[in-house]
Amino acid sequence: MQRPRVILNFAMTLDGKVSTVRRTPSGFTSPFDKHRLLEIRSLGDALMVGRNTLQIDQMSMGLPDDGLRQARVRRGQSEYPIRVVVSNSGDLDMNSNIFKHRFSPIVIYSTTRMPENNQTKVRARAELHLSTQAHLSINEALNDLYETYQVRTLVCEGGPQLAKALAELDVIDELFLTIAPILFGGTGAPGLLGASETFLPSSRMYRLESMKVEGDECYVHYIADRAPCTTPTRLS
Ligand SMILES: NC(=O)c1ccc[n+]([C@@H]2O[C@H](COP(=O)([O-])OP(=O)(O)OC[C@H]3O[C@@H](n4cnc5c(N)ncnc54)[C@H](OP(=O)(O)O)[C@@H]3O)[C@@H](O)[C@H]2O)c1
Repeated sequence: MQRPRVILNFAMTLDGKVSTVRRTPSGFTSPFDKHRLLEIRSLGDALMVGRNTLQIDQMSMGLPDDGLRQARVRRGQSEYPIRVVVSNSGDLDMNSNIFKHRFSPIVIYSTTRMPENNQTKVRARAELHLSTQAHLSINEALNDLYETYQVRTLVCEGGPQLAKALAELDVIDELFLTIAPILFGGTGAPGLLGASETFLPSSRMYRLESMKVEGDECYVHYIADRAPCTTPTRLS
């Protein structure tokens, strides 16, 4: 099945946590990193997140930087990436920030478990793809994004449950990580792939593409160490 190139972008504490035990909103990095996040986001034809990240971080999934939007248009992309959300339960809060903005299409992959009243409301704002299975297939969603929406580069901003699903399928092609100078602690606080005790089917190997330091933060860019090796993404 054809699929887009998948770029994962996360911020992590020195003790390898991406959130707290209580799954509080993220926001523990510098303004420089927040702009870098937008820079990475701007590379994607689409931006994908899981339901919890969407709602906890109150994301509009936009691109509030005129220069980055203009650069997209010059590259032949739409001004804003398509916004993609995955949720098995379909239990989406219709007051979420994402539904308040109409700057780009919203595409939701869910299951027929989505409450009927939500289905009606979501269809008024978004394109809804419902699987009849208990769990949607991320592989099929990636293929649909490629075939139906011509998405060739997908940026995923998490959260960890979604990142784990992508890692299980071994479809994370590039990984941008910000290491922030802070410790959270807490065995229940998720790492990049969540707090689950289960291993991946096998280890996934990456090669260091670049490393940069700004202030007290470190930015690393890894690419998957598997054939075929394609040209890695370049940030300005
Ligand atoms: N540090 C960072 O860079 C960063 C980045 C992102 C998020 N976070 C933090 O991470 C925390 C949220 O973590 P999380 O793991 O709960 O977030 P998540 O992956 O965004 O959300 C999990 C939910 O998304 C849906 N989902 C995820 N993977 C799916 C799959 N393969 N198929 C179908 N649905 C899927 C499910 O929704 P349903 O329950 O509706 O089925 C699942 O319960 C928040 O505190 C957030 O701030 C941090």
